[in-house]
Amino acid sequence: MWVEGKVIERRDWNDKLFSLFIQADIAPFLPGQFIKVALPIAGKRIGRAYSLVNAPGSATLEILVVAVEQGQLSPALAALSAGDKLEVSARASGFMTLVEIPKCRDLWMLATGTAVGPFVSMLRAGQLWSQCENAVLVYGVRYAHDLAYIDELNTLASQNPSLRLMISVTREAIPGAFNQRITELIATGQLEQAAGLPINTDNSHLVLCGNPDMVSETQQLLLEKGLHKHLKRQPGHITVEKYW
Ligand SMILES: Cc1cc2nc3c(=O)[nH]c(=O)nc-3n(C[C@H](O)[C@H](O)[C@H](O)COP(=O)(O)OP(=O)(O)OC[C@H]3O[C@@H](n4cnc5c(N)ncnc54)[C@H](O)[C@@H]3O)c2cc1C
Ligand SMILES: NC(=O)c1ccc[n+]([C@@H]2O[C@H](COP(=O)([O-])OP(=O)(O)OC[C@H]3O[C@@H](n4cnc5c(N)ncnc54)[C@H](OP(=O)(O)O)[C@@H]3O)[C@@H](O)[C@H]2O)c1
Repeated sequence: MWVEGKVIERRDWNDKLFSLFIQADIAPFLPGQFIKVALPIAGKRIGRAYSLVNAPGSATLEILVVAVEQGQLSPALAALSAGDKLEVSARASGFMTLVEIPKCRDLWMLATGTAVGPFVSMLRAGQLWSQCENAVLVYGVRYAHDLAYIDELNTLASQNPSLRLMISVTREAIPGAFNQRITELIATGQLEQAAGLPINTDNSHLVLCGNPDMVSETQQLLLEKGLHKHLKRQPGHITVEKYW
């Protein structure tokens, strides 16, 4: 079921990456979940999934979107401005939530691009700390200008020694950031070393979100370390959400 939504604000991070703030009356949701957003395009309703970035209870919904070249919906979303209408699913969906992720000592959140959004929602909601002792957010982007929410994340990390923030910028060298893909950082042990936390079956749960190749290749590396995918009927150490 769809409800009417209205864009009340937008924030541009670069010429392809933006956040939309949307007023819409949807059912309560959990951090990590996504809504569907739709526009009429050539006489058809075109709807796609977007993770919520806001914490539950906030007055407006917030999504972080990258305009995909040749995409059907995302370039149309990029053309919206305050006052424009769109359709929003009446309920959020998805299982990448702290209800589904088991309690653990070290929670690793690995995101590429816009997939940082659901982790920002979890951090804003502040519920992580009943779930784990340490949280590591690894945020991988192509260029420094793709680092949405970076000031807020730096502030959160500086206020909370249990949160470690690791940035990977793959297509330019940036001081304080890694210059390799998340997969390479795991394969070489650099992430564990930088976090001061080993990735193992005793202490770790890893949530992988975003680019489907990153998710598949990282999952393979973790399986080789003896970790397992988390299933309801068989608890494990890996939770995944592929964005395409
Ligand atoms: C659970 C879930 C949550 C999602 N959350 C977000 C989010 O928070 N922000 C966001 O921007 N997107 C998110 N997506 C992706 C989003 O749903 C759309 O797929 C994306 O916006 C492209 O839609 P489109 O209609 O413009 O392109 P389409 O016309 O549907 O696709 C064109 C092609 O682009 C590729 N593609 C799709 N998405 C991407 C991408 N992000 N980067 C590179 N290639 C891509 C696909 O291979 C596809 O064949 C999410 C997807 C899922 C499944
Ligand atoms: N970001 C931009 O400047 C930009 C500009 C215009 C349009 N877009 C559109 O946005 C879409 C998404 O771009 P995005 O930059 O948000 O996401 P992305 O292409 O998924 O890149 C985000 C990060 O994921 C890394 N990555 C890609 N494949 C990986 C793998 N197999 N294993 C580990 N890491 C991997 C990238 O490294 P690498 O750099 O090594 O690939 C990059 O650091 C593009 O397809 C394009 O349509 C993006």
